Amino acid sequence: QNAVGVDFAQRLTDNPTTAERRAAILEDPGFGNYFTDHTAVIDWTIDAEGRGGWHQARIEPYGPIAMDPAAAVLHYGQEIFEGLKAYRHADGSVWTFRPEANAHRFNRSAKRLALPELPPELFVESLRQLVSVDREWVPNGEGEALYLRPFMIATEAFLGVRPAREVSYRVIASPAGNYFGGALKPVSIWLSEHYARAGHGGTGEAKCGGNYAASLAAQLEAEAHGCKQVLFLDPYNDNAVEELGGMNIFFVFTDGRVVTPALNGNILHGVTRDSVLQLASDRGLSVEERKITIDEWRASVADGTLAEVFACGTAAVITPIGELKTAEGSLVSPEPGPESVAMSIREQLLGIQTGAVEDFHGWLTRL
Ligand code: COI
Repeated sequence: QNAVGVDFAQRLTDNPTTAERRAAILEDPGFGNYFTDHTAVIDWTIDAEGRGGWHQARIEPYGPIAMDPAAAVLHYGQEIFEGLKAYRHADGSVWTFRPEANAHRFNRSAKRLALPELPPELFVESLRQLVSVDREWVPNGEGEALYLRPFMIATEAFLGVRPAREVSYRVIASPAGNYFGGALKPVSIWLSEHYARAGHGGTGEAKCGGNYAASLAAQLEAEAHGCKQVLFLDPYNDNAVEELGGMNIFFVFTDGRVVTPALNGNILHGVTRDSVLQLASDRGLSVEERKITIDEWRASVADGTLAEVFACGTAAVITPIGELKTAEGSLVSPEPGPESVAMSIREQLLGIQTGAVEDFHGWLTRL
């Protein structure tokens, strides 16, 4: 038994990845390509009295999930997920960053998708249990970490459209380097004019697979124009900037103002987004969460008042945006130097996460 009083039965694989193979993977993990040897699982069912409960917490060998072809997740997409990372410190200890924020967001997503909430202590304990058996997989290269992917799926075999009565929570882990591959460099993004990511009252701020599935046609368009990500606007709100396919967006003006779209129900409550706002205001920069339209972006490039644009997220960390490509032409941002807000906050954030810089907000949790 552990601190939360839940016994995670361990059924460990007798066929783990060899140390040589793991070392080769950790040489250049990329993002999302390789997975560790185990997975954490907790099931949820409703009993005869209609009470739902979590049970059978366990660590299993990583492998395919046996599921009924009628499982609700496969038909109606009743699914949510999270993303956070485990970082190796110089003394070999492994830490994660603001996991209670991810646990909280997971439960908000669960409510929106009519899935059961998971006690935050159990969420954190599941990460700890998985990392305890797959600790060797936590990389220690510059900008590298073990990406943790908790998710919840509706496993009940039933084709009526109603919330499932059988659900599975799982965590998988994947060693990760730069999300965009190779060394960090500014990325180009594409302005989606045909597709929206979210609608008012929809699932925009939930972290559910459907939002990402809905971004893919626009992402293909972006790639066809040589861009790494797609930018979504709210066409019913003066073309306000919302977010990218898989990350939040920030603007820095020449007078030092740091601006990001306000959380309006359509936008993901990014943990990195929130941390950037905090670190920017710690530096005395004025931070604004507000509506920012594509017209303001164009005008501020034209009059020279826009200094930087960057993307942020757990996977992307902080990645400068060099260019917004649109059907009508491009908006280019200058390449950020090490003194730029994007690069210096990135360095501070990675420093906190990897134990090189003081964690004065108490954001780290030991795994
Ligand atoms: C993350 O940043 O953790 C995400 O879930 C976004 C996805 C593009 C990987």
